[in-house]
Amino acid sequence: MLSREVKKRRTFGIISHPDAGKTTLTEKLLLFGGAIQKAGTVKRNKAEKTATSDFMEIEKQRGISVATSVMGFEYLDHKINILDTPGHKDFAEDTYRTLTAVDSVILVVDSVKGVEEQTRKLMQVCRMRHTPVIIFINKMDREGKEHLDLLDELESELNISVRPLSWPIGIGSTFKGVYHLHKQKLNLYSPNKKSISDDYIPIEDLADSKLEEHLGEKAATTLRDEVELVDTVYEPFDISLYRSGYLAPVFFGSAINNFGVQELLETFIEIAPEPQARSTDTRLVDPYESKFTGFVFKIHANLDPKHRDRIAFCRICSGKFERNTFYHHVRLDKKLKFASPTSFMADNKSVVEEAWPGDVIGLYDSGNFKIGDTLTEGEIMNFVGIPSFSPEIFKELENTDPFKTKQLEKGITQLSDEGVAQLFTQNPGNRKIIGTVGELQFEVIQFRLLQEYGASCRFISMSTSKANWVSSDDPEALKKFLHSHASKVAYDKEDRPVFLAGSQWDIDYALTNYPKISFHETSEWD
Ligand code: G4P
Repeated sequence: MLSREVKKRRTFGIISHPDAGKTTLTEKLLLFGGAIQKAGTVKRNKAEKTATSDFMEIEKQRGISVATSVMGFEYLDHKINILDTPGHKDFAEDTYRTLTAVDSVILVVDSVKGVEEQTRKLMQVCRMRHTPVIIFINKMDREGKEHLDLLDELESELNISVRPLSWPIGIGSTFKGVYHLHKQKLNLYSPNKKSISDDYIPIEDLADSKLEEHLGEKAATTLRDEVELVDTVYEPFDISLYRSGYLAPVFFGSAINNFGVQELLETFIEIAPEPQARSTDTRLVDPYESKFTGFVFKIHANLDPKHRDRIAFCRICSGKFERNTFYHHVRLDKKLKFASPTSFMADNKSVVEEAWPGDVIGLYDSGNFKIGDTLTEGEIMNFVGIPSFSPEIFKELENTDPFKTKQLEKGITQLSDEGVAQLFTQNPGNRKIIGTVGELQFEVIQFRLLQEYGASCRFISMSTSKANWVSSDDPEALKKFLHSHASKVAYDKEDRPVFLAGSQWDIDYALTNYPKISFHETSEWD
């Protein structure tokens, strides 16, 4: 049973620079998968959420999606779990954390704009984790970049080898469809297509005159020449290189016109990896192990400000999870059971009795969880690979209402447990420094502290631009460094020392003077 359930699961993240078409593609994947009946559901959800909560007003005002959502559906005997991510750069940490819970990724690129800032950053995280990536080049109905130039751009800017699995015929006003190189069939494009299935014409041999019949003389000749070129320029597709994160297969399509989506989905379930083994601080955990294990990668505030409970998103790594069963919360050394674990299926959520490796469940939480927490059947171990990254903007938190000090303390601790921002403290907790990757997060914090905790604060700018965790094999050397840099050292939530640097230069300088100290960009190091 366990083996069957693991084999049928595909858990992936969908990522892009904002506006490339991530929401549209997600929606079309759900539509093709039969999980929703009509287009507009995903977008409508986005809109409704923003309308029902004050906090989400921030999201609405800026037209961005703050929350990461999970959507599951069944397709051709597979259980697909899509983890959507916010594209806006100020919420990049949320996206990075979501990427720790997936086994592969679909990256959406706009054919007109090509590689953009967030595309680059997100790929960097995928490369670091060797996550297999499929690239979907969207908006082929627009006058985009020349195909081969775009592929070159992907390779050089994203630092990954690519291999087109389909080849576009024309672009923009001359776009006629794609030729599936892998399966040797032609998929003809028709704009504003309402139906959700692709119509294929099998063409086993490109010399077939059927090509002229469907494409016309000129386009048929161009296609033959280009396919020949592609086959000489690119090595044949090697699935093991894809699975180890070195090669990204590329598809072309137009999500809004339902074009190329079915093809993407079908190839995805064929080549994308099933749930993979995951590392802990003691050993590697295989999904086929009978005992349940999982970790929390995201905590979502309750959208209703009257209730302060939260939803912890848990990725199941091994065994079977069951409702109302006691599991071990390793960090707290505490037994917990969950009466209403939730699964997310497209546009609704429901209580689940059981869940399997690869699944993501929502656990109602009244403050027990922090990001990275591990649940087991009793074994003492912690999943690793869910690091905090060095924030980019630092501000000191100042309490502006002395009567609400306790509320502020509690609020800021909970918000940092949720991962809204990182909290560093100095002078045994008296000075609080907040680190984020974007300005927007400060607004979110200020707003939520007031709405949910009744605490008010303001932020004072700092010259810090980098936080590096410090360690040393020599305790004396570490002590000396921390002592002599007391004004620039703060402590993270786990009480680990962090060096607050004005620039990379400060770190390089300290490295020269303190050779026994190691500096780390993330909170996890070997
Ligand atoms: P995101 O989640 O990555 O931010 O992108 P989203 O899907 O919201 O798409 C961004 C815009 O691009 C939307 O237009 C969407 O309709 C459009 N789009 C998506 N796929 C295609 C495509 O294949 N071809 C073309 N031409 N456009 C596409 P919008 O005007 O911002 O929003 P809306 O009014 O359509 O909702």
